[in-house]
Amino acid sequence: MNFDELILERQSDRKYDASRAVEEEKLMECIISAGQAPSACNAQPWKFIIVRDSALKTQVCGCAVSMWLNKFCADAPAVVALVLEKPNFTSKIGSVLQGKEYTLIDVGIVAYHFCLKASNLGLGTCMVGWFNEKKVKKLLGVPSSKRVPLLITVGYRAGDLRKKVRKELSDIYSVDKY
Ligand SMILES: Cc1cc2nc3c(=O)[nH]c(=O)nc-3n(C[C@H](O)[C@H](O)[C@H](O)COP(=O)(O)O)c2cc1C
Repeated sequence: MNFDELILERQSDRKYDASRAVEEEKLMECIISAGQAPSACNAQPWKFIIVRDSALKTQVCGCAVSMWLNKFCADAPAVVALVLEKPNFTSKIGSVLQGKEYTLIDVGIVAYHFCLKASNLGLGTCMVGWFNEKKVKKLLGVPSSKRVPLLITVGYRAGDLRKKVRKELSDIYSVDKY
């Protein structure tokens, strides 16, 4: 797959082939690629938790299901949780001085790297930001001082590749002035 194909191939997949488990090695490959992501001051403020135990996975995925939201999570063949780790000193100081949450930018990039690699391996993913974080942290033994900004569901896509719904090009850039 070339780069442009990969960009189109990655979508939020919310239907997975229940008969196909996600290979552990493929999850590891995704994490290895994600770890190559850039971050402010190279702080790499992230840690992935692969939820291997199937009963635990059901519980963690259940934390994302609320009313009509994220019902698909319950059927995700695999899930990883992304923990926001403490940044290094320079990133932290930079964030304070610039008033920018560099670590949140960093985790967004690392999550996308993970998802792109997954697509390259033929896997579907969905980044999930709506879930009961407190419950997830408890289930996974994440210290209360840390945040879990995202879960990523992973599985073999069962639905179709969709056309992307995006703003007009003219709405997302300008030249020289805002
Ligand atoms: C930070 C973040 C949080 C998201 N949270 C959810 C979520 O809780 N549930 C969900 O179904 N999709 C979630 N998504 C997926 C977006 O809805 C999706 O990326 C967007 O609609 C564009 O579609 P595409 O990913 O298929 O290109 C999230 C995406 C991001 C980047």
